Parts: sequence; C-alpha cells; structure tokens
Amino acid sequence: MSASGIRTIGVVGLGAMGSGIAQLAVEAGFDTVGREVSDELGEAARGRIAHFLQRKVDKERMTDDEREAALGRLSLTTDLAAFDGCDLVIEAIVEELEPKRALFAELERLVRPDAILATNTSALSVTEIAAATSTPERVVGMHFFNPAPLMPLVEIVRAELSSDEAVEAAYGVGEKLGKRPIRCHDTPGFVVNRVLIPLLNDCLRVLDEARVTPEDLDTAMTAGAGWPMGPCTLVDLVGIDVHVHASEALYEKLREPRMAPPPRIVAMRNAGLLGRKSGRGFYTYE
Ligand code: 3HC
Repeated sequence: MSASGIRTIGVVGLGAMGSGIAQLAVEAGFDTVGREVSDELGEAARGRIAHFLQRKVDKERMTDDEREAALGRLSLTTDLAAFDGCDLVIEAIVEELEPKRALFAELERLVRPDAILATNTSALSVTEIAAATSTPERVVGMHFFNPAPLMPLVEIVRAELSSDEAVEAAYGVGEKLGKRPIRCHDTPGFVVNRVLIPLLNDCLRVLDEARVTPEDLDTAMTAGAGWPMGPCTLVDLVGIDVHVHASEALYEKLREPRMAPPPRIVAMRNAGLLGRKSGRGFYTYE
C-alpha cells in the first residue's frame, strides 16, 4: 500500500490526540472512521472537531461548505470491525503497552492484510507493539504533537521489522495531512521526546531549586528563551499523567536521572491534578 492508495483512515481513541488526528484527516479529504469505547465519547470528540473547524470558518480560513464536507467525512463507531475498509489505522489509545499490544493483535484480524497499522505512542517501543502481530512489517509509528492540528511535525518511526513501503506510505500520508514529517528509528523517545522530556523535567526541578512560581518560570522560558509557551503551561497541555508516564518509560529504558519524573509532578498526578483535562494542574482552567 502506497500513500496514493490510502483513501480511508481509521483512528482508534478520540481523546485529545486522536480527535486532533481525525480532524487533520477529514480536513485533508480522507474518509475517516473514528472509534471510541462509547457513543458519548465519540460524540464529544465530534463536538470538539466541529468547534475547531467552526473557529476556522469564523477566521475565514475555511468556508461553511468546506466545514460541512469535512464533518461529513467523519464516521464514528464503537466497533473495531468498522475498520475493515480502512487503508491505514492510527492508534491513539491509553499510553500503556499491554492495551496497545492487545489492540494491534485484534486490529490485525479485522483490517485488510495490506492495510498499514500506525501507533501514535510517545515513549513506548513501536517494535514491542508490532511484535503483538504476525505482520510487524506493516506496523510503524506516526507520532503527532499536541495539539495535533497545530503542531507541524510528525515523526515517522521505523520499528525493527517495518517495511520500507509502510514507512514511506506513512510519510506520504503525513505530507497529505499538511505536516512536516521526519523519518527516525524506534529508539526511546524518538527525536523530540528524547530531548524535550528531560528538558521539561529540568524546568520542573528548577521550580523548587530556585523557589520560583510556575508563572515566573513560564515567563522565564518564554521571555528569556523564546519558547512559544512556558514549561508549566506545556505540561498542563500535554497532561501531567502523560508526561509522568513518558518520563517513567524513558527512565526505564535509558536510566538517565534527568528522565525520571520529579516527585512534585508524580504527587500532582496521584492527586488527580492532570492539567487542562482535569481542570487543574499548575494552573486552574474553566
Ligand atoms: N485542536 C485544534 N485546534 C486548536 C486546538 C486544538 N487542540 N487548540 C487551539 N486550536 C485552534 C483554535 O481554534 C485557536 O484559535 P481560537 O483560540 O481563536 O479558537 C487556534 O488554534 C490558535 O490557537 P492559539 O491562538 O492558542 O495559537 P498560538 O499561536 O498561541 O499557538 C501553539 C498555539 C501552536 C500550541 C503554541 O503555543 C505552541 O507551539 N506551543 C508549544 C506546543 C508544544 O510544544 N507541543 C508539543 C508538546 S510535546 C508532545 O506533544 C509530545 C507528546 O508525545 C507528549
């Protein structure tokens, strides 16, 4: 399957990342099947996509007709069997290895043999996910960045047994989604998270070392280092739980102390302060 043969994209998991990926897919003209575990969660994702597309209409970056056509390309399901007509399925479920492996084993049974299977994992091994299937050559990583509709990068990750064809098809789809794809191998954290996660953990340690407030740390890094958003705002956006999990996964693999999540954010995660998604993290959200 080459990128030009890909017409229908499946997205499993319509949380922040999955709904952003589904939004990109419908905007780029792909028929898109989005799967959530309940109708309510699916409809909530459709509502978020409709909202962001409406904002584009308001800003005259899209017409009403284009918005309607894009939304018309999105179908929702709770049933993985609905992916039988997909040419590419992108997984964006919970960031844990075993559920992902179980999903890929099931997808392999349900999708066409030539369909490509991609994971949006941020810090798990694509090779370990692919190993749950008997056709690991068609499994690749497609790692989008949060918020997926706004961040230009997608990392196209080659696992140990990924075929050239699958890697190039995913790269081509990344381009069609309007992204700037890069190719990399399946190493812990790939490219961006290998650098960004220890850097964010350094920032969070400075909170205590320099006894600085989250607001002032954010001002320091935006006004002094030109970051588009400060580290506390960014970790709140990504999700404290996601950041802790990614830090633990990298630390487990690389054993570098900077990778380990600072105790302060582990405590926040344990207290349910997850950032934007829970309404409270370093900051409070409406
Ligand atoms: N989905 C779709 N559209 C969105 C959106 C979302 N989640 N969030 C915002 N938008 C749209 C909105 O319509 C918004 O306009 P509105 O407020 O008028 O409705 C529009 O985008 C523009 O939003 P902003 O005005 O907030 O845009 P900014 O110019 O401030 O830029 C940003 C926002 C691109 C997010 C910028 O702040 C940035 O680059 N931040 C850094 C983000 C980053 O580093 N992400 C990577 C995180 S690491 C990661 O994802 C890896 C993972 O594995 C953990």
